[in-house]
Amino acid sequence: VAERPVVPAETAAPDVAPVQPRFDLNAGSPDLTAFPRPAWLSALRRALREAPAEALGYADPRGRVELRRALAGYLARARGVHAAPDRILVCSGFTHGVQLLGLTLRRRGARSFATEAYGHFVHHQAVAASGLDVPVVAVDEHGALTELLDGEDAVLLTPAHQFPLGGSLAPRRRLHAVEWARETGGLLVEDDYDGEFRYDRQPLGAMQALAPEHVVYAGTASKSLAPGLRLGWLVLPGDRYDEAVAARELMGGPSTLEQLALADFIESGAYDRQIRRRRIAYRNRRDALVAALAREVPGARVTGIEAGLHAVVELPGGVSEDEVVERAAARGVVVQALSEYHHGGPARPPALVVGYGTPPDHAFSGAVARLCAALAT
Ligand SMILES: Cc1ncc(COP(=O)(O)O)c(C=O)c1O
Repeated sequence: VAERPVVPAETAAPDVAPVQPRFDLNAGSPDLTAFPRPAWLSALRRALREAPAEALGYADPRGRVELRRALAGYLARARGVHAAPDRILVCSGFTHGVQLLGLTLRRRGARSFATEAYGHFVHHQAVAASGLDVPVVAVDEHGALTELLDGEDAVLLTPAHQFPLGGSLAPRRRLHAVEWARETGGLLVEDDYDGEFRYDRQPLGAMQALAPEHVVYAGTASKSLAPGLRLGWLVLPGDRYDEAVAARELMGGPSTLEQLALADFIESGAYDRQIRRRRIAYRNRRDALVAALAREVPGARVTGIEAGLHAVVELPGGVSEDEVVERAAARGVVVQALSEYHHGGPARPPALVVGYGTPPDHAFSGAVARLCAALAT
């Protein structure tokens, strides 16, 4: 027996954490330094202390009932979702949820699962990995053009806050989507990833409430708390629930202790408090970003700012996305081009997707100043 494990030098991967960029304006993450560690720790402690021994066994594929109950109350109150604990499935974030839905659609004999023409590349890939065709639905500043839906078996939409363009799905388009689902039996998948973060008006209610039997509502703790928790949830139509549970059984899910901690966190009011605090902080950041761009780069148009943790900055005439991304990188700023989120159909004018929620407080104004410098040069 060797005294130490022998790993040939040429195959040994360097055992280091990925380097965080100094000024990270990638979209997709909340400010991780604002994670409510003391409150989460209390919830986790209580969960561990009070969990019955049975909770440490192989888990219920639906997710812990304590969390499903807490979510049913929260989602009805905060997002207007028609949710009952026996329609909720706990999953490891939305990415897991969408894979799970892809598998259930395949098993049903579905052929296509459409996505928005601009959307998160990971979710687009997850849908494609299920082996289904992935047609795209065009989007503009009022969300997806749902009147173009036709023979698809399912479609993934971001109605509260189109990702990444930022508009909310116009009421007429919501109705079109629901009519399409009722007429064709197609499934609407509502990705409500940051619906709580709406700044100038009351949050828009979930589309699911219009047709709970045709919409899968999907939520996640990735923006409200942290993506590293890998906690998400689906609220499913009654006739799709059992097949989703069967798929989830194959795939596993988040740790029972984390589920119990989230249940406690919601029931104690800590989740609402965190969202209230973060909503104010992100709104202030958004205002600072918009003001700085108006002052320093008057030729840049900022859109999609009513909600969420990112904005779209259309580039002043004649400047290419690659050029600005490079100029930003030279100043230590990481930011993504809008075209990275494009999956088909006509392209939008060149723009950046600026994740103003991502940097920690101490790096935020430096990141914005450097971004403005990269845009103004
Ligand atoms: C459009 C969209 N939906 C959902 C999510 C959350 O995904 P997950 O719950 O897998 O972290 C993100 C995160 O970046 C997102 O951008």
